[in-house]
Amino acid sequence: MKHYPDGIPPHGGVLINRIATPEQRQSFLAQADALPRVTLDERATSDLVMIAIGGFSPLDGFMNQADYLSVVVDMHLASGLPWAVPVTLSVSEDVAAPLSEGSTIRLDDASGRFIGVMELTEKYHYDKQKEAINVYRTDEDKHPGVKVVYDQGDVNLAGPVWLLEREAHPQFPDYQIDPAESRRLFKERGWSTVVGFQTRNPIHRAHEYIQKCALETVDGLFLHPLVGATKSDDIPADVRMRCYEIMMEHYFPTDRVILAINPSAMRYAGPREAIFHALIRKNYGCTHFIVGRDHAGVGDYYGTYDAQHIFDEFDPDALGIVPMKFEHAFYCTRTQSMATTKTSPSAPDERVHLSGTKVRQLLRSGELPPPEFSRPEVAAELARAMKVTVEA
Ligand code: ADX
Repeated sequence: MKHYPDGIPPHGGVLINRIATPEQRQSFLAQADALPRVTLDERATSDLVMIAIGGFSPLDGFMNQADYLSVVVDMHLASGLPWAVPVTLSVSEDVAAPLSEGSTIRLDDASGRFIGVMELTEKYHYDKQKEAINVYRTDEDKHPGVKVVYDQGDVNLAGPVWLLEREAHPQFPDYQIDPAESRRLFKERGWSTVVGFQTRNPIHRAHEYIQKCALETVDGLFLHPLVGATKSDDIPADVRMRCYEIMMEHYFPTDRVILAINPSAMRYAGPREAIFHALIRKNYGCTHFIVGRDHAGVGDYYGTYDAQHIFDEFDPDALGIVPMKFEHAFYCTRTQSMATTKTSPSAPDERVHLSGTKVRQLLRSGELPPPEFSRPEVAAELARAMKVTVEA
């Protein structure tokens, strides 16, 4: 196992920082009323933040056509670096028409707040169906990621961006740890190997099992739940974060685990998103990344281990971060412990299979997930919170 006492280099070698300095900010604010405006939706807003804090290094802005096409077709940036998911700012023809290449654009969030600027280098049309088929492996608009592509504007605006100010997260300020800081924390703790964990679901025992199996072989665990946009039937981020707080309090060795939020939006692109998720965690300083069953999948669009196999299509040195692949984990009633088919002698009827989808179904029908499924404190919190959510 390769160790990184000074930290793994960010993707592309340099951690991008596109947060405006106080002087730049003043200068942008002074021009605010004169600049043409583009309004960002929730995903584009979180993408702007991710670019600015270096989570998407080496991207310093929304993708130009060369990078976009190369990513869609070939899963690499035009420079040759691996990258699997487009990061684009799509607007309607009407919005794009008056904007001229070479101009500075004011970026507002959905509530009309001035949050960033873009130096517009390029506007281009793109083929939505081609993006859907290549990135999501389907052109069905039932797929939540494909639906976003179909619903967004027909023109991509490209160019480097600046975030006006890095503000504290309104819900989770204590867990807002940006890549420069997570890298500093890992070093401070003396971790030369760190495994990152992506999740968009409330923690269940299969998650805990694979997290702890991974932690047996590395120095630290970076729990990194995604709190950006998710599809409407996913469990809200504040509920998921409370479940993680409970786990930190009762079930994890806190000196070897750091809990932090990942501000980006889910794409549900399965295998391609696993690569994207891994590269983001590399930028946060992780040397390893957990990829379990149907990572970032939705419905039946991807095979159970497609998100693991896709790593074989890349040069491991170019990726840098190492995937830690886990089989479908379950509770084995014969050995009374969590296991996978690699470690359990059980017959299929001795396995309690768990998934985030199943937890959601149980909660919606008013049932508490069983102890084979969720730790009791987590089940209680989910029941409490989901009742509130349902009644609200
Ligand atoms: S995801 O969309 O963020 O991937 P989820 O939060 O359910 O969804 O999964 C987080 C990680 O745990 C992913 O790597 C996923 O593959 C893995 N995982 C979830 N459930 C299981 C399971 N029962 N067995 C093995 N890995 C799992």
